[in-house]
Amino acid sequence: MTASRMNSATIRDLMPDDLPEVVMPTCEVRPILRGQTAIVTGASSGIGRAIAEAICAAGANVVVNYIGAEEAAAATVEAATHCGCAHRGRAIAVKADVSDEGQVSQMFARTISEFGGVDILINNAGLQQDAALEDMTLAQWRRVIDVNLTGQFLCAREAVRAFKRRGVVPGVSCAAGKIVCVSSVHEVIPWAGHVNYAASKGGVMLMMKSIAQEVAPWRIRVNSICPGAVRTPINRAAWETEDAYNDLMRLIPYKRIGEPEDVARLAVWLCSDEADYVTGASLFVDGGMTLYPGFEAGG
Ligand code: BGC
Repeated sequence: MTASRMNSATIRDLMPDDLPEVVMPTCEVRPILRGQTAIVTGASSGIGRAIAEAICAAGANVVVNYIGAEEAAAATVEAATHCGCAHRGRAIAVKADVSDEGQVSQMFARTISEFGGVDILINNAGLQQDAALEDMTLAQWRRVIDVNLTGQFLCAREAVRAFKRRGVVPGVSCAAGKIVCVSSVHEVIPWAGHVNYAASKGGVMLMMKSIAQEVAPWRIRVNSICPGAVRTPINRAAWETEDAYNDLMRLIPYKRIGEPEDVARLAVWLCSDEADYVTGASLFVDGGMTLYPGFEAGG
């Protein structure tokens, strides 16, 4: 039978019943970001923490930005810097609300005074405040747009100013600077009950691409990573119970939840010179969530 004539039962029969537990690759970390400095916003937990650790392991100094969770940020610093490999960068925690213009510029000033410059911005800080449309308050709408979209704008603007002031530093990187926006599959997948969040991520998509177009002549690269469902505190309800996890799997062709390290590895590569010709791209790390999984058996 050709694939196009398979019915849904046939496809299900072909699926493995017991998929093995995921074992994250423990690949040798190469110091491909040595001599650089990165700011990772919202790095006290989840994807931000994993990215901060991975960037530090790849040899860069890291500013672990946080807003309220001081102890958790200190734990990220500890985890990022204490693994025993000699080529690790240094890390410090810096408190700042990314939606506040003054605090963002102070964070950049502190980074430059501590490490002598900034080469990488990971625009990661983000939050959800979910509600049905008719119940969503203006405060919920504004807070999500302020942090997820305006926060990324303020940090990107400050980063571009710093990258342009300094220019390309030969021997450090081919680029004058790199920005990675942590977006979401919801920059393209509509999400009922989350209109503030989906609007913020849709905004990130065209903000990122417009900035990428504008700053490319200065050798500044700007890209987005679009995670699907990744095991972090933000979506605990979607993976914590067996029932919820099984429901979630209906949306993920690859049949496993993402781990923060899945995202972190891509972030390191995107910031490295190995990705020097990549700019303006939205890269999906989603186990196929954007592949219209409803069509696995239908259409
Ligand atoms: C959201 C998660 C959600 C995932 C897939 C992410 O951007 O933050 O809560 O599980 O998208 O829907």
